[in-house]
Amino acid sequence: MLNELSILRPDDWHVHLREGALLPITVPASARYFNRCVVMPNLQQPLTTAKQIANYAKEIRQHIPQGSKFQPLLTMYLTDTSEVAELEEALKLDDFFGVKCYPCGVTTNSKAGVRDLNNCNAILEKMQQAGVPLLVHGESSETKDDVFDREKIFINDSLVKVRQQFPELKITLEHISSKEAAAYVRDSGPHMAATITPQHLWFNRNDLLGDNLKPHLYCKPILKREEDRQALCSLVKEGFPRVFLGSDSAPHRRQDKENSCGCAGVFSAPYLLEIITQIFDELGALDKLNDFVAVNGANFYGYPLTSDKITLKRQAIEIPDNVGQQHNEQLVPLGGGTSINWSVDE
Ligand code: NCD
Ligand code: ZN
Repeated sequence: MLNELSILRPDDWHVHLREGALLPITVPASARYFNRCVVMPNLQQPLTTAKQIANYAKEIRQHIPQGSKFQPLLTMYLTDTSEVAELEEALKLDDFFGVKCYPCGVTTNSKAGVRDLNNCNAILEKMQQAGVPLLVHGESSETKDDVFDREKIFINDSLVKVRQQFPELKITLEHISSKEAAAYVRDSGPHMAATITPQHLWFNRNDLLGDNLKPHLYCKPILKREEDRQALCSLVKEGFPRVFLGSDSAPHRRQDKENSCGCAGVFSAPYLLEIITQIFDELGALDKLNDFVAVNGANFYGYPLTSDKITLKRQAIEIPDNVGQQHNEQLVPLGGGTSINWSVDE
């Protein structure tokens, strides 16, 4: 049995750091073990301009602990009226990463999102030409569509078309959750990748709904059947090179989760690396961990690999049920109130 494991310092290619009072909690949580994080732009006032992105980056950097080499990578929020000139401004910023597409209404702070991707052709053309990745929340936003089918509907109705129109555009289907998405990414060419979250590898919809309702496992895309979870696990176990960690860590305050109208999002950042290691251990895939968390994403996006290493130990830890105490907040992390078998050697 393997009791110790050394890997490259990991990257998280999809994280919500939020704003204001949550930044002193979220930024140190991600900076603790991560090398780079791609930071999502769905703030209350979405980040649609280069100026807003630059201001947000400044705010985030104020919370990076001293001595940390943590690098937040910034994204722009796509709308039907996004302009090429604005993207060109954003491309001048340090650490600008890519453009995020939320179909209008599909998730938290997505009201300003895209209604019709055809309105975005000019900017997608520019992105293809400049090598800027399109990060997609791949769910249909039609409220009539069954919530468990929205991912496959988006792939069939929208993603297929975008890929035909922009075959060289780098696209990441974020937080894949279904066997259809797993198959789609597996069968597509070198410009199409996917991120996977810990919760979609760890749990299925029975865990969310089968016994009592677990609001802290409620996220978009919603957890699906066991066969869907298995399809994601298979990609990971075989070491498929175009899937990588994008935690989609998305904190909402406890009262907004444990609520008659609860928010979608799982706050996974605080014990993310320990949990991912536990999941890979349970899958018998510890030999694939390093590539999933530290290599595949960098290779897909054309970023250098880090030389920093980090050591994981088979040593149990208790995950607290609230990680916001010091800041007078109530934030329940993924795995809160349970114990897991791996810890990071600090
Ligand atoms: C995210 C959030 O709260 O910002 N929520 C979620 O359930 N994943 C948004 C998103 O990525 O869908
Ligand atoms: Zn997200």
